[in-house]
Amino acid sequence: MVELNLPTLVTPVPGPKARSVVARSKRALTPSLPHAYPLAVRRAWGMTVEDVDGNRFLDCAAGIAVCSTGHCHPRVVKAIQDQAAQLIHICGADFYDTRYLALAERLARLVPGSSPKKVFLGNSGAEAVEAAFKLARYHTGRSQVLAFFGAFHGRTMGAVSLTASSPKYQKDFRPLVSGITHVPYAYCYRCHYNLAYPACNLACLEYIEEGLFARSIAPEEVAAIFVEPVQGEGGYIVPPPGWLARLRALCDKYGILLVADEVQSGIGRTGKMLAVEHWGVEPDIVCLAKALASGMPLSAMIARQELMSWPPGAHGSTFGGNPVCCAAAEATLDVVEEEGLIDNAARVGGRLMDQLRSLADESHLIGDVRGLGLMIGVELVHDKHTKAKAVKERDQLVLECFQRGLILLPCGPNSIRFSPPLIITQAQADTALDIFVEALAVVENHRAA
Ligand SMILES: Cc1ncc(COP(=O)(O)O)c(C=O)c1O
Repeated sequence: MVELNLPTLVTPVPGPKARSVVARSKRALTPSLPHAYPLAVRRAWGMTVEDVDGNRFLDCAAGIAVCSTGHCHPRVVKAIQDQAAQLIHICGADFYDTRYLALAERLARLVPGSSPKKVFLGNSGAEAVEAAFKLARYHTGRSQVLAFFGAFHGRTMGAVSLTASSPKYQKDFRPLVSGITHVPYAYCYRCHYNLAYPACNLACLEYIEEGLFARSIAPEEVAAIFVEPVQGEGGYIVPPPGWLARLRALCDKYGILLVADEVQSGIGRTGKMLAVEHWGVEPDIVCLAKALASGMPLSAMIARQELMSWPPGAHGSTFGGNPVCCAAAEATLDVVEEEGLIDNAARVGGRLMDQLRSLADESHLIGDVRGLGLMIGVELVHDKHTKAKAVKERDQLVLECFQRGLILLPCGPNSIRFSPPLIITQAQADTALDIFVEALAVVENHRAA
């Protein structure tokens, strides 16, 4: 299939077939699925997504940061096909499977730190988070857990209880899992304490010790702190230098486990295999999913060997570590490593971020551009001084991009995320930027009118 730099739209978007799919979906599907806009996909390859009307889009969302090797990478497809012809399911929880084992051994080596690791494989990001949550409580015998405002850890009961990126995730589902306290993340653009880095001396972390631990929850009660090294769903927020290392030190001081949720940031997206590598931090537990198997449902919870002290039956999964998914993950890691995708993410992402920052200087709407590698967030505001959130404009901008053939997704209340496949070329990133600039002009003019 020929790789395109330019989107090719053959109907106004959405076309008639897409509209029909949307209408049927409204009748048949749970209304809880958010459906960002009316993109009804027929097939996809590389950076290109084709909808049911034959329109071709440039994909800068990658199915929410999943298809890092591009859609249907030939090596991943072959690995899936070969494995499916040999063994589709055996249940790695009850029987031994060499594919589960080989992948676990490889993932254990991938996580920073010289101490040996053990691995649990699941099906989704939320499942990896649940596993980490249970293991942390089991191993420490402590009940309390900290997580951050803005965090997204998934939608199952434990994971959603750790989530605090929007009230909609928790509001109608209480009582949630107890023993979780949220604290401010290092969201410097909107500092909770109205301070500026580095003069703030990382007041957000000081609060945990001087506020929470001194007055409310004894640190000896805390099993783990869950953190996204770069916040994803919450708005693609990068903490400042020193923040994650100091969080690590705080955990060490009190025997608290540091759980890095790298479900969105892991497997090369930020220009390192894991985002924690940017700050030289070694977590106790790492959660991976999304990009791990190029779109096949697979997740991993990787912990230091001595933490995995729970007995047989304490945790498992029927489908977790399915052989076909493991084969896809091995092929994905091969492609990421052998085809230089991590360097590409750093290089193309770095340039795209510089360009978006220059655009922000000229734009009334862009308040902040932040990110690492190909995990880039653009925050829209009504006024750069008051930073009032431009929520409607953000939604309109995402839609205008879609109507011009560029697939992007929102994140946080008023941000847009660029999370393209890591195979994106410079030329494709330039095309994405051109479309974004054109769409931004439409939204800005609309606002001015
Ligand atoms: C950081 C993070 N953790 C966990 C999850 C949940 O993953 P899943 O939707 O596969 O359950 C997500 C999903 O967006 C995520 O971004």
